[in-house]
Formats: sequence, C-alpha cells, structure tokens
Amino acid sequence: MATIEIDGVQYQVEAGESLLPVCLALGFDLTYFCWHPALGSVGACRQCAVIHYHDPEDQKGRLVMACMTPVADGMRLSIEAEQAREFRRDNIELLMINHPHDCPVCEEGGECHLQDMTLMSGHTTRRYRGRKRTHKNQYLGPFINHEMNRCIACYRCVRFYGDYAGGKDLQVFGMHNNVYFGRFEDGVLENEFSGNLVEVCPTGVFTDRTFSAHYARKWDLQTAPSVCAHCGLGCNTAPGERYGELRRVINRYNGEVNGYFLCDRGRFGYGFVNSPDRILKPRMHDRMDITPEAAQQQLCDWLADRAIGIGSPRASLEANFALRSRVGEENFFLGLGDNEQSLLEAIVEILRHGGIRSPSLREVEQADAVLIMGEDVTHSAPRLALSLRQSVRNAAFDRTRSLNIAPWLDKPVREQQIDHRSPLFIASVCATRLDDAAADTYRGSPEDIARLGFAIAHDLDPGAPEPAGLNDDARALAVAIADCLRQARRPLVVAGTASASHAVIEAAYNVAKALPAKDRQLTFTVPECNSLGLAMMGGRRLRQAFEVVRDAGRVIILENDLYRRAPAWEVDAFLQAAGRVAVIDCLSSKTAEKAALLLPAATFAETDGTLVNNEGRAQRYFQVYPAPEPVRGSWQWLSAGMDNLSFDALTVACAEAFPALTAITQAAPGAGFTVDGMKIPRQPHRYSGRTAMEAHINVSEPQRPVDPETPFTFSMEGAAADVPAALEPIIWAPGWNSNQAVNKFQDGIGGHLRGGDYGIRLIEASGALDWFNAIPDAFKPVKSQWRIILLPHIFGSEELSLRSPPLAERSPSPLAMLNPSDASALAVQAGDSVEISCFSGGPIVVLPVSIEPSLPAGLLGITAGRQETQRFRQSEPATLKKALGEVPS
Ligand code: SF4
Ligand code: SF4
Ligand code: FES
Repeated sequence: MATIEIDGVQYQVEAGESLLPVCLALGFDLTYFCWHPALGSVGACRQCAVIHYHDPEDQKGRLVMACMTPVADGMRLSIEAEQAREFRRDNIELLMINHPHDCPVCEEGGECHLQDMTLMSGHTTRRYRGRKRTHKNQYLGPFINHEMNRCIACYRCVRFYGDYAGGKDLQVFGMHNNVYFGRFEDGVLENEFSGNLVEVCPTGVFTDRTFSAHYARKWDLQTAPSVCAHCGLGCNTAPGERYGELRRVINRYNGEVNGYFLCDRGRFGYGFVNSPDRILKPRMHDRMDITPEAAQQQLCDWLADRAIGIGSPRASLEANFALRSRVGEENFFLGLGDNEQSLLEAIVEILRHGGIRSPSLREVEQADAVLIMGEDVTHSAPRLALSLRQSVRNAAFDRTRSLNIAPWLDKPVREQQIDHRSPLFIASVCATRLDDAAADTYRGSPEDIARLGFAIAHDLDPGAPEPAGLNDDARALAVAIADCLRQARRPLVVAGTASASHAVIEAAYNVAKALPAKDRQLTFTVPECNSLGLAMMGGRRLRQAFEVVRDAGRVIILENDLYRRAPAWEVDAFLQAAGRVAVIDCLSSKTAEKAALLLPAATFAETDGTLVNNEGRAQRYFQVYPAPEPVRGSWQWLSAGMDNLSFDALTVACAEAFPALTAITQAAPGAGFTVDGMKIPRQPHRYSGRTAMEAHINVSEPQRPVDPETPFTFSMEGAAADVPAALEPIIWAPGWNSNQAVNKFQDGIGGHLRGGDYGIRLIEASGALDWFNAIPDAFKPVKSQWRIILLPHIFGSEELSLRSPPLAERSPSPLAMLNPSDASALAVQAGDSVEISCFSGGPIVVLPVSIEPSLPAGLLGITAGRQETQRFRQSEPATLKKALGEVPS
C-alpha cells in the first residue's frame, strides 16, 4: 500500500498502480481519452495531466500524465492546480480543432465521452476560426457507421480492434496531425467484435448503424438489466426501447462475465424482436384469430388432460418449470436433440461432480496455458474467444513484471508479447479464427481430437488411459502440450457441444483431471442461452416423446422449432400423431405453422426469466417494456392454471423442486425489493416526451403500466440513488454521460461492480470422477463416403439472431466444405455444387462447394443451424456427387 496526497488530502492506495485509475477509483473527475481499463496506458492523448510535486518543499511541481505514472508511497499531487487545469483545457481545445462540433446531429450526443471530457476540462468556448481538415467516410458494413471528422486521434479503436480483438482490417493511415482510422478501402469490418468500437471510441466516429435506423437519445430509452439470448455465455446487456420497439443493445458491465465487451451477434442480433415474423396474436389452426381469453382457456383445457410438454433451451427456467409442472414430470421432454441432450447431461455431471472449477470469463483471461478441444470458439461461444485471446498475454505480463515494468503499460507488454506468449493449443476439425494466437494447432476428426486429448492426459498422469496406435506426430504433439500444461499455474481446458462428441468431452475431463496445478480449470461451451439450466433441470428425451405421443394426443411446445432438433420426417410424424399441438413462441417457424393452437410469447425484452450460463451462473433478465397486448411471457400463459403464480413464486417453486437450482432465488432480488421504499425506474430522469408520445390516444398522460413482478417501474419516478450497481438499468453519473460512467459503479476500476457482480454461481467444484476410458478408434476415411461435420457460424447458426436483418446480411450461405484432395477426386472446385445424400435417408441436399485445405480428407464440413442444413446430423455418413446445373445462391 502507499499513502499519497492529492490536493492536500491523504489517501491509502495500491502502490505501483497507474495513477489515473487510482484517481478515478477515488472519485476524482480526471479527464482522459487514450486510456481504457481493458487496454492499459499508452500516454497518447495527454489529457490526464496532473501536477506531481517532487518533495514537500516543491511548490511548482511538474506536469505528468496520470495514466503513465505509477503510484508511489509519499507522492504529492494536484489535479486542481491551475497549471494542470490549463494544460487539460488547452489540450482538449487542440484535439477539438478539426472536430465538426456537430453534437446536435451526432448519434453519440448525450452519451459522448468527448462531450463529457470537454465540459469537465473547462474548454467551453471555441476560438479556432481556420479551415478544418475533413475526411471521407467509409462504408463499414451493416453494423457500424463511420464519421471520421469527429476523430480526436486517441488510437483506442485500432488498439481495441487489432491488439485486443485480433482484427486485421482496421488500421491507422497518414501522418502527423492528419491521421485516418478506417479500412484500406470501403468494406465490411471483418472482426466479430467490431461493435465494441461504438463504445470504445470516445466520440461519434463509430456508431451503431442498426440503432441509426430507428435512433433515440440515450435519455429517451427505457431499459432494464438483461442477459444476451444468443449463446450459452450469458453476457450482460442493456437493451433500450422507445415507442414499443427495441432500438438497440449495448454492453452492461459484469466484472466476472463479459466485462466491457460483447460480440457482434449479441449486440446486433436483437432485430428479431421487431421482426414482421413475430407471432402477435393467438390463433387456431385454421389461422383464425381468437381472443387471448379463449386461447388461455383452450390451453388450460388441453392441459387438464394428459399432455406432453416439450421444453426449450432458449426459454427461461421459469417457463420450462411451469410447463413441466403442468404436464407432470413423466410427460416433460427437454426439447433438445437427443445427442445434444446426452452431451449436456455429461457436461452437467462433470461440472457438478468432477471436482474441477468451471471458470468465469474473467478467470479464463487469467489462464496461463490453454488447450481447446474440438471447438472454433469464435463461432460457438464468441465472447469466450476474446477472453482466450487475452490469456495468451499472461506470459508477457509476467515477463514485464520480472523486468520491473508495470504491466499496465501497454507498449512494453505488447513488445514482450512478441517473444513471450502463454501457450494456447487448438485441436479442431479445421482452421479457427483464434489460430493466429495459437502456439500450435492440430486438425482431425472429433475422434482424433479426443485421442489426442486422451494421450495428453496419459502423459500428464500415467494412471489415465492411453490411446493405442497414435501416430508419431500426434504423440509428439501430445507430449509437447502436456509439458506446457504441466508447467502452468492456471491451466485451462476448453471443450463443448459443438464437436457433438462424447469422446471429446470425456477426453477434456481426463486432461483437466490429470493436471497437477491446484488452479486447473475446465470450461464447456453450450449452444443456447439456457442449455445448461435446462439440462440441470432434467427431463426425458425428444425421441421418447416421439414414441409415447400416441398415448397423449396433446402436445404443448415451448419456444422451440423441433425441426432444428430432429429430422424433418420424424418431426412431421410426431406432430401428425399428436393430433392437437399447441405452440407458445415469439417467432413463426415450421413447427409454429403446424400448431392447432398458437400462443404469442414475449421475447427476452418483454418478460422476465432466469438463465443459467455455461459457467453455471444463474442470471435474471428483466422485462424492458410491456409486451404488446395480447403477447405474454410463456411462463404467464403456462402458470395461468397454477393459481396465476407470480414470477417470484414460480422461481421459488422451481428452486424448491430442483436441489441443483436452489440458489436461483438469489440471482436477483424479487418484486418486493425497494430502495428507500421506492422501486427502480427503467426510464432515465431526463426521459422526454412522455405526455406527447401518447397524445394521439389521450392528451392527459395515462397512468404508467404497473409491473408487479420485478423491482422496476415503467417510469422515470422511483429510487434515484443507492440502487445496487448490478441492478442499475442505466449507467450514468453526474458529469459522466457515456458508458465510461461505469467507473463510478465499480469497487476498483475494471474490477467488480460495487455490491457484487450480477448473478449467482450454482456449481462449485466438488468430488471427482473416475477416468473416462472409452477411447474411440482413429478416424479412417472410407472411399466415396464422407463424414458430416456441422460447423457453427457466429452469424447464421443461432435461431433468433438470424432473424435480425443486419445479422442475416453477414450470414454466409450454407456451404459444403471439402479437403482439396476430396474435391479433386469428385472433380469439383469452389463454386461448383454437390448433391449430398445421407445414409439415414431423407432428401438429397445441394450445396455450393468451398475448398478448405485445413479440413481432413474424408470429412464434409457443413454450416450448422441453417434451414437448408437442418436435415444433417453430426457424424452421419454421406455420399457426394457433383451437381449439374445452377449453383444455389
Ligand atoms: S476513431 Fe475514435 S477511437 Fe479511433 S482514434 Fe478516432 S476518436 Fe479515437
Ligand atoms: S458471446 Fe454469446 S452471450 Fe455474449 S454477446 Fe455474444 S452471443 Fe451474446
Ligand atoms: S489518458 Fe493519459 S495520456 Fe491519454
């Protein structure tokens, strides 16, 4: 610890830390641009100047940049000295010389760090009267707008995009005071985390193009704490609504999960909520609209007799539990593909009883050696890839520390990173987006990846079973990987459901179990936002539902398109045999089309629910705005026959029914929670136009809708202070209108939220499992036969986000990927198409060919999750034939 004096007051702070975050954590309003808590210090903008006095006698002091100055015991400083204030004021005036001062038409206006800092520095009058330098803006794709004239050359964008996220196509061009941040030519920004530029750029150069299309000021958006619905990681989000339309999604800080960043699927995939494909009215099978009361009655009547309930990994625990309660445990089926269900059950068993910690994303970033098995995480769990990329830097941090250089100094760490990288090994079916950060890669079928894993485990601990007949190269690689993992203090093994292989999951457990380090960790990716929660709840398999359907006659399907879970002919037969099918969902689907009773379900933005992420963390998402009548939360449709249970009562009942879920009641406070007797407002205190917005209905402002289910109100009135940081719908502090106000809500800059991060962990490492020893045989290509490997894609494999137009625009056409030797044997080249016939039958599918040299021969890579590829099952054998005629687009 160190004692420092700032403007005459003494403080106890951490020695060696950068002075800027220390000042911010102490509550000082000190201006800055180039520093970012996740990016470290580079001292580029000169905006954080303070006076450092040499000794007690020193009256003059000298200007230092706080972000580049380490805290030392006995330091005497001034933020308020006139010389420092003047420097900061003049510096910002210079940075603003070429700025267009177009705040009224800038979409950053009102939540702009540059506006905040300009005001904070005291630069309030524009004196420059000369010509301004102007730039041409670029088209950067459907996600991001570009307005380069607003740039103040802080370099944050390129540091985030290139250094932090590994992007290659955003650069700085030019020299001296004429620099340009953009692509070398117009074109789509390729990196999967490009949306973070909107929040990282302190001014309005990069703005959210999807928000632009229906823009509202920050203070006019109604919001509530929410959780991303588009993969199993559970990133925290702040969706914003105006006029009953979801307008945007931005990051909501969670120190343990997503920190400051989201992936582009999570940020730009919200458009399905406003989609014309929404189911907005209850309907009977003949497409007749019926009243909500009649629909509710019909559902209750069906549930009064024996009915089968099909749950969903994209529905909340409460909705699944309500369905399970209504149909009874023996009639509840999870609604997952059978293999997926058994993989998830294996994962739950390992996480709960395997004795190895499942890390948060923050802990992933701290890993000092990583082995990824069978996943291209950028596509299966995108935000995890960003964390894994940071883990590679740990060796450089250690090296920098050993040289007595502060690890928050970005440049020396980047320099050390050239020669010092924490090892990341990737064993995958084909090339992945993280390969550039990897120490070594291995390509193989899921069986071969599992065999490599078993070999690594055996090398680490001879008690672990050993695969027979491993080739020399794979054996040497296994030894090298085992060596690195053995030496690590915080080794991490990553696997998941994307490889659809039990052997890969079991081998990953063996590796983690064999690791000598006390802080070894094992993380599994799971496909959907509540996959793990549903698996923890447990239930019967979909195939069993197909078998017993004739005895039931009625089927209630919750937020699930079964055609994504099982072959079409099986689902057709099931729905036909069912006779009466009720579907509760938010979007039209092939399954919904077959419903005799269709009930409109609220999306994540319109109702409440609890989700469990891949780490085992239960998190609550709150209704952002009232669902349009007669849309209701699925849990509300289903609990109508349960004495209309409140949401809290349903959560409690669910927690009581499942010991593994007991703690979900602590994921967030219930409806009774108040601050000083008041609920928490979803609308900011500057929310405008409330009367005018509804003047076409009534010139007297109608009463605000009442929310009996949560601690929030649909209003700007309510608790104004002392709201727990994790529950703050809007991050805002006096003088801090941008998202960087989050500094004021953390227990240390870049640390945890004050009062604790959001959510509660349901699983802690305990017990130990025996070695898994079902080692598969090596994959051997069979002549004229291919093994199907489904490959997820960040923009295209997830059901809901794919219905968002900007995301759909980035979604690649489904492809058949072939090794060059296989392609030449078939006499096809890129752009040709092939007819794919599966051994299990079903229709022939024609897909365009893409040549993928990294894909082993004998494997056929197919884009997962697309309607065109739904009939394929992982590892199915298939035959291929060159298709004649036109290539499907
Ligand atoms: S574009 Fe934004 S982030 Fe990039 S240098 Fe300019 S002001 Fe900084
Ligand atoms: S990583 Fe997953 S949870 Fe996080 S923002 Fe992306 S899609 Fe959402
Ligand atoms: S924030 Fe310190 S120099 Fe930029």
